[in-house]
Amino acid sequence: MYAQTNASLGTKLFILRALRNPRQLGAVAPSSRHLGALLAKYAAVDDVSPIVELGGGSGSLTRSLIKAGIDPARIYVIELDKTLATYLRSALPQTNIIHGNASELGKILPSEILGKVHRIVSGLPMINMPESVRRQILESCFDIMAPGGAYLQYTYSPRSSIDAKAYQLTKKRLGTIFLNLPPATVWQYTKE
Ligand SMILES: C[S@@+](CC[C@H](N)C(=O)[O-])C[C@H]1O[C@@H](n2cnc3c(N)ncnc32)[C@H](O)[C@@H]1O
Repeated sequence: MYAQTNASLGTKLFILRALRNPRQLGAVAPSSRHLGALLAKYAAVDDVSPIVELGGGSGSLTRSLIKAGIDPARIYVIELDKTLATYLRSALPQTNIIHGNASELGKILPSEILGKVHRIVSGLPMINMPESVRRQILESCFDIMAPGGAYLQYTYSPRSSIDAKAYQLTKKRLGTIFLNLPPATVWQYTKE
């Protein structure tokens, strides 16, 4: 009951922040549990390694990861919006919430997890970002990932929001979720 109230507070806050800064928020509503379940399925590669989530928003995806059985202490959420980061810290106290920029992961993540991250899940609005920012974020991700790690990104277009070839990445479509507002497609990117 408390968790539900907490989540609906988060949804209201998310909508308010999206009205203030639509390009940065990049969505009209938090992600659905159906989208969260698909991402959680591909994020949980083992029981121990850290998982980094980019763009925590109101914590909808984080809650799905936890619901899928992922220990919240393994999850590191990066959120650029200070108000949302403060909310996330109080709503999901067992998770590691970091107020910061996804393009600076090497600086803002704890040093002990650098090079050990097998999955990064991202709800960042890549499509709204200039190519230079997209590049900084992807480089920052692959710099801190374990060898063979994967970057999972959902996007509201059926097409990939990342030009995989330009970054020497291999892309794979993991699925499309129609029960999301708007419908979303999940892509996985890996580096050979
Ligand atoms: C589409 S929302 C994510 C929603 C959330 N994952 C969910 O499950 O509902 C995108 C989030 O990314 C955050 N964001 C945008 N650019 C960012 C950046 N460079 N670094 C970290 N967070 C960023 C926004 O503030 C926003 O909260």
